[in-house]
Amino acid sequence: MRRSNYRFCILCGVIAVLAAWLVLGNVPSVSAQPKQVSFINDVAPIFKENCFACHDAKKRAGKYEMTTFDKLVDEEHVVPGKIADSELYQLIVATGDRRMPPKKDNLAPLSKAQADIVKLWIEQGAKLDGGIEKKADLVKELRIRWKPPAPPAAYKYPTIVNAMTFTPDNKQLVVGGHHELTIWNAADGKLLKRLHTRAERAYGMAFLPDGKLVVAGGRPGQEGDLRIFDISGAGKAENGIAILDGVNDPKVMLKQLLDVDDSVLCLSVSADGKKIASGGCDRIVRVWDISGGINAAKLEHSIENHADWVLGIALAPDNKHLLTCSRDKTAKVWDLSTKESVLTFPDHQNAVFGVAVKADSKVGFSAGLDRQVRMWNAVGDGKQIRALGSHTDDILKMIAHPTLPIFVTTSADKTVKVWDATAGTNTKTLTGMNDHIFAAAISPDGTLVAGGAYDGEVKVWKVADGMLLKGFNASPGFTGGVTMTPAPMPNPIVPPKKK
Ligand code: HEC
Repeated sequence: MRRSNYRFCILCGVIAVLAAWLVLGNVPSVSAQPKQVSFINDVAPIFKENCFACHDAKKRAGKYEMTTFDKLVDEEHVVPGKIADSELYQLIVATGDRRMPPKKDNLAPLSKAQADIVKLWIEQGAKLDGGIEKKADLVKELRIRWKPPAPPAAYKYPTIVNAMTFTPDNKQLVVGGHHELTIWNAADGKLLKRLHTRAERAYGMAFLPDGKLVVAGGRPGQEGDLRIFDISGAGKAENGIAILDGVNDPKVMLKQLLDVDDSVLCLSVSADGKKIASGGCDRIVRVWDISGGINAAKLEHSIENHADWVLGIALAPDNKHLLTCSRDKTAKVWDLSTKESVLTFPDHQNAVFGVAVKADSKVGFSAGLDRQVRMWNAVGDGKQIRALGSHTDDILKMIAHPTLPIFVTTSADKTVKVWDATAGTNTKTLTGMNDHIFAAAISPDGTLVAGGAYDGEVKVWKVADGMLLKGFNASPGFTGGVTMTPAPMPNPIVPPKKK
């Protein structure tokens, strides 16, 4: 009897396992337990998207900070296991005026699915994932976990060209694309290489004397970086084009100098190649000493003085001064030894998008939304010397040659203007582009100028006679024929296009 019982039970077990396997295998969601919610992967991204703007360490709306776990989960707002006592959850699902994010700011409530994730997380004990410090900056933790997408194999919409530079041999152009840098033959517009980057966009580029490329960029509102790349490698060939992995390959992405919460918008390399300076959305002006090599780079200057985004930067040839300009409507001169802003040029009365400095380090040039190119004393009284001329629409970029007395401006008026820095005159106006021009480059030998636009177009002109050398769209595989609706992606730097 016992024996047959025993056998029966084995059979029973086998049948039960079989039945469970059949049921679970086919419809797992019906009988499965609710999954364990991960704070960092499931909950924190919801808070980052909907709450951090007002509840970060700076704003602390309602004196409540959410950007570290220990501040977020305090007894007052989150009670593990107790939904009814957790004010955070109650405010998310509230229908009255106290709903979060606030109704009065016209912000949409969280979706039911998002609210349910928060609810489940609290019910499961409001735990933090292993391996993360309670005091860790959650914005940073999320950034570490974020994986950049590969750039499109073939672009459906054109990329916005925000930055570009000629290679030291004057022959190729490096152009900022979507999560990549693309490298083109300037004379015939042939695509040679694609270098994948973590940054969604590049906003500034310059070569160091040893041929390595410094790139400033980021992902709007999410992260910003300054990285140094070696673009010379062969990479792996795909359809005849070399692909370089600037995300993971340490032979391509040599060094990251900066990791911040929003885009880095401009950079400058000193004429002697010993210093790199950058500015961006965090308003901080930084200078690194790289005289001991990039791996021994020393951050020697990190100062906030502008009241808004820093849009342009230029290290002066005397190695003692730095010029910057900002959306705060000013340009400034900094003393690198005292690490102070020593002069403010206030005449633009609107956002200043580009700044340059004359070879004597005593005269500054700047331009922006007031459409004027202004020349002023970068020492002494800081007064305007004169306005050199204007574009017929917003000026969006100013790029100067590191040693020759030539700089260029680009504009929403669809032209690139070339200026003689010694005479203070506009020598050429380069035409033929069809959209706002955000990027420009001057070849190291000073013979070529290139412009890059909102619609992905790049054009290369000869400086001597203003003739077009080559034009191409810097969006690999883009076949044209798409109008700009939907627009490629809003550009965070400039105001929306006027219609
Ligand atoms: C646009 C800004 C803004 C956003 C976005 C926002 N909040 Fe608030 N929050 C406030 C302000 C302002 C207060 C204080 C006023 C009040 O208590 O009614 C507040 C108060 C709170 C409080 C109460 C703090 C206390 O102790 O009184 C909690 C909890 C809270 N928010 C959670 C959230 C959550 C969760 C989100 C995202 C889902 C969020 N908030 C998004 C502005 C914001």
